[in-house]
Amino acid sequence: MSALLEIVGLTKSFGGLAVVEDVSFRLQEGARLALIGPNGAGKTTIFNLLCGVYPVSAGSVMFDGVDITAMPSRRRIGVGLARSFQNIRLMPHLSVTENVMLGQQARASGLRALLSPLRGSRWKTEADERLAAFGLAPYRDRLVSDLPYGIRKKIEIVRAMMAAPRVLLLDEPAAGLNPRETAELQEILASIAAEGVALLVIEHDMGLVRGLCPHCVVLNFGRKIYDGPTADVQRDDAVLEAYLGPRDSVHVETAHVA
Ligand SMILES: Nc1ncnc2c1ncn2[C@@H]1O[C@H](COP(=O)(O)OP(=O)(O)O)[C@@H](O)[C@H]1O
Ligand SMILES: [Mg+2]
Repeated sequence: MSALLEIVGLTKSFGGLAVVEDVSFRLQEGARLALIGPNGAGKTTIFNLLCGVYPVSAGSVMFDGVDITAMPSRRRIGVGLARSFQNIRLMPHLSVTENVMLGQQARASGLRALLSPLRGSRWKTEADERLAAFGLAPYRDRLVSDLPYGIRKKIEIVRAMMAAPRVLLLDEPAAGLNPRETAELQEILASIAAEGVALLVIEHDMGLVRGLCPHCVVLNFGRKIYDGPTADVQRDDAVLEAYLGPRDSVHVETAHVA
């Protein structure tokens, strides 16, 4: 079966140093895949390559059978790749609804369409519906700068959904969330996946990874060291060594992966 998103031999060097090296993996339509690995392993760089923030040094990115390796980043959102960021990128001086509406820019023809009263009201309705579906209706008219971190994180995800993506890239969505907020996030992401949106999730919280993603890819020093079922990752020798170092007396039970 051909994958919705396929990266082949992806390599990225900064100043002669490879931070992503010959990485290949596939994400099937509607699937949920985690991308994990120690800090500095190259995970966020892979997202930046997928989104066209950086040009690749080598390798290719295929989306639905089309080579998008050299496609400008703005057009990638249009074909169905959306992203939420490791650090929140909302407009603090705009309301929650306005921030979410900005997420559909890729679908409309830019800011002009957003500002046209007719189109604008359609996007506003959709934004408010999506906010309500995520339990965020009470915050609609609030300024983002007034809201707690956990709420802003959810709003970022709602905004990414406004681009009507086929793949949603999430960079550490649970970072900074407490256990209750993380459980709510997992529900939200599961409902997005149930809509048929494929998820590629960078995450350190292995509870969330296990709950959401049946498969994972592990990176270490820019290279792929594991690609398989999440249920087996904590028993994999290469993964244990990446996290714990080469030691003789590693107890699997104590290994905290990610
Ligand atoms: N724009 C950049 N210029 C130079 N080095 C970078 C740049 N972006 C990332 N790196 C380096 O690439 C490596 C991988 O970073 P990153 O992809 O952010 O890791 P991760 O998300 O897995 O923690 C790090 O050593 C980081 O310093
Ligand atoms: Mg990162």
